[in-house]
Amino acid sequence: MNKDFLWGGAVAAHQVEGAWDLEGKGISIADVMTAGSKDKAREITDGVIDGEYYPNHEGIDFYHYYKEDIKMFAEMGFKCLRTSIAWTRIFPNGDESEPNEAGLKFYDNLFDELLKYDIEPVITLSHFEMPYHLVKEYGGWRNRKLIDFFVHFSATVMRRYKDKVKYWLTFNEINNQRILDNPIYAWTNSGILYKDDDNKLEVMYQATHYQFVAGALVVKKAKEINPAFQVGCVLAATPNYPLTSDPNDILLAQQEDDNQLFFTDVQVRGHYSKKVWKSWENSGYSIDVTEEDLMCLSEGTVDFIGMTYYLSNTVSTRPEAKRLNDKLLGSEVLVENPMAETTEWGWTIDPKGLRYYLNLLANRYELPIFIVENGFGYADQFEDGSIHDKERMEYLTEHIKQMQLAIEEDGADVMGYTVWGCIDPISFTTGEMRKRYGFLYVDRDNNGNGSLKRYKKDSFYWYQELIANNGLVM
Ligand code: BG6
Repeated sequence: MNKDFLWGGAVAAHQVEGAWDLEGKGISIADVMTAGSKDKAREITDGVIDGEYYPNHEGIDFYHYYKEDIKMFAEMGFKCLRTSIAWTRIFPNGDESEPNEAGLKFYDNLFDELLKYDIEPVITLSHFEMPYHLVKEYGGWRNRKLIDFFVHFSATVMRRYKDKVKYWLTFNEINNQRILDNPIYAWTNSGILYKDDDNKLEVMYQATHYQFVAGALVVKKAKEINPAFQVGCVLAATPNYPLTSDPNDILLAQQEDDNQLFFTDVQVRGHYSKKVWKSWENSGYSIDVTEEDLMCLSEGTVDFIGMTYYLSNTVSTRPEAKRLNDKLLGSEVLVENPMAETTEWGWTIDPKGLRYYLNLLANRYELPIFIVENGFGYADQFEDGSIHDKERMEYLTEHIKQMQLAIEEDGADVMGYTVWGCIDPISFTTGEMRKRYGFLYVDRDNNGNGSLKRYKKDSFYWYQELIANNGLVM
């Protein structure tokens, strides 16, 4: 492994910081999401309602614990930490011209603390936490005006932290919103709640078009601010396997892959494919795309591809295939993969899928890839201060092994690997605390009870050793 390989962990502001209304922070879209579970969807409420429980309001209080937490990340030997900047700390409503100094100062302190230990900050500009005001007032990313607001926010923070942050990511898992039937995805990606008369797919393409343009403008701005900046996109990378060799299954799997890769195609290549133009024409969509937008897309392509990887999907047209009908995984074409085990939350465990997808992205785009999330959500057992998370170590070992094979055998150019939820965060899809990911256990339960005290799990020492060896010794 390359000696500069970026080993580390990843979190997102809204899932750990808490302090949702402190020091001038505005309400974000994550602040109006209640707690749920695998079988109970999180609700999106109309504003913050008294008596409802919103787990992100307190998160794990990283806002106050960050020095203690970063010290332990340093002890593990982290080379980088991926987190996001909460847009609402900087621009509480999102449409102000002047930023909130207290919010800027918080991230100055946070980044200084990381740099003190030589931990490189890897910063996501939009990780499911846009200002709620932009939804109420403008309709979220349905509205072209969002481009200016986002670029203004991004330029403000890139200027402020130009000597502290080198790696930037634009929109987290921008392709989640392709799952149309579960409201959580359009909401968290774009601040959109579909109306009855919406053509969901058309609205989705419009919102993502504005995000592509905004992302491209941010790449261009980044280079003006500091030519050494590296800006990436983020794809939730989920292979789609055909269940059988029935050509209908093969075509379906290809279609599902295309639906996903559409997002990286535009951000990496800087234009829409012929297939996309054709499908818009065939569907009679009228997407607001200007000549200037197209120019901008071609000028603002990303430097690297950020990918998150948790699971693979299997698809089929065959009547005998067992449908998943999983509201969080989304699509109706998903079926059970008889070859793969799953977690308690129904996510397949498929380490080889990571090698497969690294190859796919590397061959298709020939750009560096950063694995900005991979991790194992599990209901860890707390036993008198110890947490023996053998399953997590196994999961991570197998995935890292496949990543190393992709690098060493297949020649994939991978820059780094950050374990999702390196300290137990609030789960994004379910709002639970019970679905834990960390090397550090946080004493907090699904109802918000607990001391917030941090405990080292067995995997803490395992990851420390792995980083010291610069990877698995194979
Ligand atoms: C990714 C997100 O989808 O997966 C994270 O970028 C999220 O925000 C992670 O937390 C794991 O999902 P969950 O629902 O298990 O927290």
